[in-house]
Amino acid sequence: MQGAENLSKEQAHYLLHEAEGHNPGPWVGHSQHVALAAQAIAFHAGMDSLLAYTLGLLHDIGRRNGVYKIRHSIDGYRYLESLGLHHHARISITHCYTLKNMAQYNHMDDFSRSERSFVAKYIREQEYDDYDRLIQLCDFLGLPDRICRVEERIADILSRNPDAGPAHMENMKYKYRLQRHFELRMGMSLQTLFAPEDNAAQPASQ
Ligand SMILES: [Fe+2]
Repeated sequence: MQGAENLSKEQAHYLLHEAEGHNPGPWVGHSQHVALAAQAIAFHAGMDSLLAYTLGLLHDIGRRNGVYKIRHSIDGYRYLESLGLHHHARISITHCYTLKNMAQYNHMDDFSRSERSFVAKYIREQEYDDYDRLIQLCDFLGLPDRICRVEERIADILSRNPDAGPAHMENMKYKYRLQRHFELRMGMSLQTLFAPEDNAAQPASQ
């Protein structure tokens, strides 16, 4: 496998397909729509849309290890690091920690003690850039079958995690700031970009 900058869509889809064989589930469709949303936003924001696509496609690849909760972040990090995909490995952790607050996942913490320490130190040391922020946002736009609005995804998450604490709520609310950040960078709203009639997830071409 080549380095992150040279990862093609075909290679990324191969990795996702292989992972699906280990642990099939709605996370695969979610990943595909995160990738499409990231590609479209990146294209209009003047970012690298191919990189955005593959970062989105592989952000949850840690789920290949099985049905785990927040542990999928470090599982993905380890797997992608083993392939030399350092940028993708980084996103596997940073996409979960918009506000760098470990407490937001108290209700779904299945890390070992050493894993928790590693992730806490890792996110503390990273300076987030717009690729981290892009996947943090798009993680909230991708449903298994389509691209949705941030508020719809928040409702979806709350319905599955009724015991989410205040730190988790803060993280979700911050998604609106990320949305505004990219809308300003694109000069258009997400609602315009992902108009319902276009929501067969057909982003701008490369
Ligand atoms: Fe995700």
